[in-house]
Formats: sequence, structure tokens, C-alpha cells
Amino acid sequence: ASDENWREVDAYFEASLITEDDALAAARASSAHTTMPSADVTANQGKLLAMLCQLAGATRVLEFGTLAGYSTVWLARAVGPGGHVTTLELEEQNAKVARQNLERAGVADRVDILVGSAAESAQRLIDTGADPYDFVFIDADKPSNPAYLRASLELTRPGAVLVIDNVVRQGAITDPNSPDKRVQGVRAVVADIANNPHLDATTLQTVGAKGWDGFTLIRRTN
Ligand code: DHB
Ligand code: MG
Repeated sequence: ASDENWREVDAYFEASLITEDDALAAARASSAHTTMPSADVTANQGKLLAMLCQLAGATRVLEFGTLAGYSTVWLARAVGPGGHVTTLELEEQNAKVARQNLERAGVADRVDILVGSAAESAQRLIDTGADPYDFVFIDADKPSNPAYLRASLELTRPGAVLVIDNVVRQGAITDPNSPDKRVQGVRAVVADIANNPHLDATTLQTVGAKGWDGFTLIRRTN
């Protein structure tokens, strides 16, 4: 099977099972105006995140890495009008694009975009005693994954669900000597998860419109 096959299958299931309304379509298109065009999740992945939130009964979501806010729209809709999403974004340029997308999707009132270093924003949430989050999506700069997991554990309670995006990277993840800092960031966070008795986790490899990658799903047990 080829990338082309994977794209076709993604498109088939998206067309069959997922309604991407104008706001989501616009959010995806607008990623061209961000610092990382096309790093957003696919529609199938966005809906998976939304469904995981709903299955977990999450009302408070924390996201590392906003970009154009495509996944943010999915998450904000999943938590409903009474829910809340805090999303952390380094670049004001991206936050500006995201704000427009959240407005268009009608969920701006339930989302806070904190602009600046995500590690610093998360520390500020910890320091100011933010209410605990039920669901965390880690999808920002990969070398910081261990720091983002550490912060997430201070911002959640037992029962929380966490997802880390982009943990496969075309298979490079298996190379302990990889010079790629993103690979090392993922390997470090995987080791941290493995060494934490209060975290249960599994990783699914994915193929599709974004090529070969995968995500790690974590449940905080204590
Ligand atoms: C990259 C980052 C992402 O979050 C993603 O989904 C795809 C690619 C990247 O760093 O290249
Ligand atoms: Mg990603």
C-alpha cells in the first residue's frame, strides 16, 4: 500500500462518517497562514480526539500546541457549552488565526488561548491553581514532550486521559541514537510514562492523509 492508498481510505471514511462543517473546513484551510502549514490533525483524528473526550466525560481540556485551532474546534465542541478548553500556543501569528477559527465555529467563549512558551503558560496555570483538567492533548514542539507531561500531571487528577501526537515519525522512533531532537523528545516521554506506575498507556500507529505516524493514549490511574 502507498501514501496514495492511505489518503484514499482516509477520504473514504471521512466522507462516510464525518461531517466537517464550514468552520472546520475553514480552520484546516487557514493552517496555510500559520508557521507550520498542514501540521494539524486529520478529520478522522480530530473526531477521534472529540470522541475520546466524550467517552472520558471530559469537560475541561488542556491542549499543548494550538496552531490554527483545528483540533481545538473539535475539542471545544466535544466539551459542549458548559465545558472549557485551554490551549497553549507559542506564536501570536498562529493564535490570531486560531481566534478567528474559534469565533467562526461558535466556541470562542469556551476557549482560552494562552500565547507564549507552553511550558511557561502551563507553569502559570499550576502556580495560579487552575482547576484540574480531564483531558490533555500534547501536540506542540516534540523536544518538550517530557516537560509537557510533567506539567500535565500537576494539572490533572486520577482518571484523566492524555493523548500525545506524532510519536512514530516515519518509524524513526525506534532509533535510540537518532540525532533528531523530536525523536529524542518522544523517546524520553515514552520512558517517563513507562517508569510512572500511575500511568497506563498504549500507542497506535496510524497511516492516512498525513502519512505514517501514531499517537500514544494514556490513562492516569492515580
Ligand atoms: C509535525 C508536528 C505535528 O504536530 C504534526 O501533527 C505533524 C508534523 C512536525 O513537527 O513536523
Ligand atoms: Mg501533531
